[in-house]
Amino acid sequence: MSQASSPNNKLINTLLQKQKSPSQYTIQSPAVSPTQVSLPKALYPHKNSSIDLTKLATLMKQQKVKQTSSEGSKDSMTQLIAKARAIAMSAKTPSGPIHIRNDSAQIRKVNKEAEVVSPKQTDMKQINKAAFTFEYVIGIGGFGKVWKVKRTGQQFAMKEMSKALVITKKSVNSVMNERMLLSQLKHTFLINMYYAFQDRENLYLVMDYMCGGDLRFHIGRMRRFNEEQTKFFVASIFIGLEYLHTNNIIHRDIKPENLVLDEKGFVHITDLGIARVMKQENSSDTSGTPGYMAPEVMCRQNHTFAVDYYALGVIAYEFMLGRRPYVGRSRQEIRDQILARQVQIKASEIPQNWSVEAVDFVNRLLQRKPASRLGFNGGHEIKLHPWFKNFPWSKLQNRELKAPFVPNPSDDNFDSRQIVIEDEENAELITQNIQLLRDPNAQQQFAGYEYQSNNEKSFVFDQTKQS
Ligand SMILES: Nc1ncnc2c1ncn2[C@@H]1O[C@H](COP(=O)(O)OP(=O)(O)OP(=O)(O)O)[C@@H](O)[C@H]1O
Ligand SMILES: [Mg+2]
Repeated sequence: MSQASSPNNKLINTLLQKQKSPSQYTIQSPAVSPTQVSLPKALYPHKNSSIDLTKLATLMKQQKVKQTSSEGSKDSMTQLIAKARAIAMSAKTPSGPIHIRNDSAQIRKVNKEAEVVSPKQTDMKQINKAAFTFEYVIGIGGFGKVWKVKRTGQQFAMKEMSKALVITKKSVNSVMNERMLLSQLKHTFLINMYYAFQDRENLYLVMDYMCGGDLRFHIGRMRRFNEEQTKFFVASIFIGLEYLHTNNIIHRDIKPENLVLDEKGFVHITDLGIARVMKQENSSDTSGTPGYMAPEVMCRQNHTFAVDYYALGVIAYEFMLGRRPYVGRSRQEIRDQILARQVQIKASEIPQNWSVEAVDFVNRLLQRKPASRLGFNGGHEIKLHPWFKNFPWSKLQNRELKAPFVPNPSDDNFDSRQIVIEDEENAELITQNIQLLRDPNAQQQFAGYEYQSNNEKSFVFDQTKQS
């Protein structure tokens, strides 16, 4: 479906009105999160480590931290985090998150508007943390942990974000933006939201739970995927992107960390923190993750949906060759490399059993010049590429295909070491900045965060099929 004939013009208009000014997000410091540079070997699970982090993971899991409301469980949580900190102190790496700058006047504007997009605010009985049973931590983000939780027999993922961290990292807009977009977008290949709420210290997003872990974890373990697996991943990500693009949304942060697998191996796109409604003038929207960031974003030019296809190309390249096309320790280093040369996979580099069509597909997605990039004129270019000749798109869309890579259900499928390290960094920052929450204006910035879906059943498995 072309962008012009999008069925969701109402959504686009609403979001366009609510979107913050393009000048608000900039990467302030060289981005050196573990996603942007190759992880030192010692950071991969259970290798070269004197610390038995498997035990820690088991501990985290076995304790099945019930964080509902009881004081006892709070204590066990505190002990657990203290233990995690102690371990992390000896395993700390010089990594850090991307810092995003924004503008407080705009934040207030966005937050005020966010109240408008949550029609059920006034009449709904507000759900809170005590309604969920907390099982264990399955992921870590820039603002806090992602938990596996249960409510009335149903499993969810709960992203818990520290308000102190959100404010410190100047990312109020980002979290409000994510909540706003999630309330409007529902699709089988996205992570869908069911509830959003807050208490004094945290924001909570309750979403589809994916037991298969993210693709960063799996590529870290596998080093490479084969062609069939890569094609399946690329096609699934494409379907999710096609839905976002049809709704005029650019994701802008497509990378393995933000792609999570369900128990059958289907990929779901998550993390809409820096997604944006497509606008002609967007040259100042420069946030993202440098290793996956399209050259036009790096060079602060106006950009289109094709930036997500560039990121898709980086992922396909990484899955094929086990490294990214442009590697560097900072945004500047990666930018310099991109400017210096156009990466192309050469015949001599093609791994065994990979087709020339696959190589051509990846080379064409990685084109630095957006107009030369596959997908620049629309997603149909991707579907029409010879690599996807006779590909059963509707079967994939309807989840009738068998995934060639299925995560092991008995594995944890997350890297407990990374969680411990990043949790420690977050905990330190929270302690340093918790006093920020004493200011009543600080709380005001999160007004309107609450959301409750009409549909408590999973969107993942019973969603109306897209044409
Ligand atoms: N629904 C989910 N099911 C299972 N695991 C998830 C889910 N959502 C997130 N995760 C895990 O938690 C990690 C962090 O989540 P997410 O990407 O949403 O946070 P983040 O990167 O901090 O986002 P933000 O950009 O808002 O800071 C993911 O990389 C993934 O491993
Ligand atoms: Mg993320």
